[in-house]
Amino acid sequence: AAAIPVITIDGPTASGKGTVAHRVADRLGFHYLDSGALYRLTALSALRHATPINDEHALAKLAAGLPCSFAGEHVYLGKEDVSHAIRAEDVGNTASRIAALPAVRHALVKLQLGFRKPPGLVADGRDMGTVIFPSAQLKVFLTASVQARAERRYKQLIDKGFAANMAGLLQDLTERDARDANRAIAPLKPAEDACLLDTSEMNADEAVEQVLQWYAAARKKA
Ligand code: CDP
Ligand code: CDP
Repeated sequence: AAAIPVITIDGPTASGKGTVAHRVADRLGFHYLDSGALYRLTALSALRHATPINDEHALAKLAAGLPCSFAGEHVYLGKEDVSHAIRAEDVGNTASRIAALPAVRHALVKLQLGFRKPPGLVADGRDMGTVIFPSAQLKVFLTASVQARAERRYKQLIDKGFAANMAGLLQDLTERDARDANRAIAPLKPAEDACLLDTSEMNADEAVEQVLQWYAAARKKA
């Protein structure tokens, strides 16, 4: 049987991965995996259970047993809709810290692989093309300048009713980029065969069109 197609979209925080991946999935009628949400869900659970963020064993257990489900734009932990709660900056920061723990990453692998279902999948995160779906038909690495990304995240947080300040965000993003890129396990880096897309001067629609063009070209070649 032909492999179920996968498009991976990796990149740093607020580069537009989620927005672009979601729209590409809609256009192709594919499933969508927001892998960052799994790290955020684990972080939210840890914060709520007051699990110390250096207790690797306990955190991996939380990750392995996440009672999570997805429906459209909504993310559930058990019966609770946590779509809003997982977007808070402290949850994102905790997510980025616990994502450096090998046992936590390992605990989330099977869950992620399970999203590869017909007719296809668009998966976004940090290691979708390098670790989780190395055989993906198309790998995209999205970037944008730190300034552009901080502005996007600022606008997003304000729109969602969170407090935000630019100076703090710039510092947060810089720290998070360094942590994601320098960790020993599954660091943020483009796969060798990834297509690079710098969206500093591009809107989300333009980025979506580029990804769809690349995918059409990859399919012709296959
Ligand atoms: O939206 P943003 O890019 O800030 O974060 P996210 O994609 O929701 O992911 C939250 C955190 O989870 C990131 O800072 C990463 O450290 C981690 N993550 C990861 O390590 N591997 C993934 N595949 C996805 C997210
Ligand atoms: O998932 P990630 O953290 O990479 O980014 P996101 O949550 O998709 O947030 C990116 C924000 O920037 C959204 O509000 C988008 O509308 C906006 N944006 C974009 O995604 N792509 C561009 N080229 C320009 C803006």
